[in-house]
Amino acid sequence: MTDPAELDRILAAHATREGSLLPILHDVQAAFGHVSEAAERAIAQALNLSRAEVHGVVSFYHDFRVAPEPRPVVKLCRAESCQARGVEALAARLPADGPVKVETVYCLGLCSVGPNAMVGDTLHARLTPEKLGALVGGLA
Ligand code: FES
Repeated sequence: MTDPAELDRILAAHATREGSLLPILHDVQAAFGHVSEAAERAIAQALNLSRAEVHGVVSFYHDFRVAPEPRPVVKLCRAESCQARGVEALAARLPADGPVKVETVYCLGLCSVGPNAMVGDTLHARLTPEKLGALVGGLA
């Protein structure tokens, strides 16, 4: 649920910035785990945009959610370097409907130490089946 006081604090923190839509959306996503319809309306009003404009940005970027994700999220890099280092074999070991949500991302910027994944703001490098299993098991 979106706390109106926290949302007001986020909007106030960006009130004097140009081009603040994306920073606001990132802060709202971080605070509430998603960008609700109510948040979209409040952001639109604060930035003098239509709700459709705000929703268009929210729905364009995969990192923004319109509803909370109940499961922990593991972002697994499946770009070229991580593919060359065996990420597809790791991905095949993860159940599609398991206790964590596995999302595909394309490059986490650590190509030389792949395969890589990210949980929250933490990067996990040099994944092996054992390390990935421990990571997923620790989240479930
Ligand atoms: S290709 Fe996976 S981190 Fe760059």
